[in-house]
Amino acid sequence: MTEPGLENLEIARGQIRKARRLAVITGAGVSAESGIPTFRGSGGLWRNFRAEDLATPSAFQRDPKLVWEWYDWRRGICKAAEPNPGHLSIAKLESLLPEFLLITQNVDGLHNRSGSRNIAEIHGNIWRARCTLCGNQFDLLETPLSRIPPRCNCGGLARPHIVWFGETYDEELLEDVLDFLSAADTLLVVGTSGMVPMPVYLTRHAMSHGAFAIDVNPEDSELTHVVNISLRGKAGEVLPQIVP
Ligand code: APR
Repeated sequence: MTEPGLENLEIARGQIRKARRLAVITGAGVSAESGIPTFRGSGGLWRNFRAEDLATPSAFQRDPKLVWEWYDWRRGICKAAEPNPGHLSIAKLESLLPEFLLITQNVDGLHNRSGSRNIAEIHGNIWRARCTLCGNQFDLLETPLSRIPPRCNCGGLARPHIVWFGETYDEELLEDVLDFLSAADTLLVVGTSGMVPMPVYLTRHAMSHGAFAIDVNPEDSELTHVVNISLRGKAGEVLPQIVP
């Protein structure tokens, strides 16, 4: 494990201890130790396709069966995965703080399974689907799927309730997230490369309103030179050291 730096660990501990209104932003890295491949690390490929090739409206329009086969594979991995100490530390943080919001790009459902409750799933959730015909949103928990592509009760083709590349975020949800960050005193960013710009945008927004920002990642990322301190290490190893 790359040492996160003892001095920075102490600074992070102190900041979290005095926090009153804390937000956490997570990316695929927080689920890496649960065995779920990140998007831009090794192991993130399926039949040599990258997420960018399949998680798009055009890929779905062209071949909904292929896109659903990819999601069926990912859902199987997510179902077999267990929350790791990183998820559990974030859930514990929520129980300790008067005001807390978890903002996640992850769709795997592991934050909910680890006990987090106040969650903004800004990229959606792999266990929910919506009808392309009637718009009905519904839980789709069966894995493996008995029918690919799955259909809504109305007979319409169902799609994953996930924000794909090229699609916009839920405006209302983003508004709520920005409102919370405008008054947060502490921000923890865990396991995101920042290659999709939203985490950097949200971090800058929070910091411009006075938040102290801490990044947890074994590698440099787009956040490294934005936050106040970077802790070099894995979520499952660093977070238990800074959460009281
Ligand atoms: N602990 C913490 N961070 C880790 C760990 C770990 N154990 N292992 C890897 N990481 C870091 C990597 O160093 C990388 O910076 O997690 C980050 C994962 O980056 P990405 O794979 O780009 O995932 P993410 O940032 O979540 O991607 C954002 O892009 O593909 C789209 O919609 C998809 O939500 C995803 C979005």
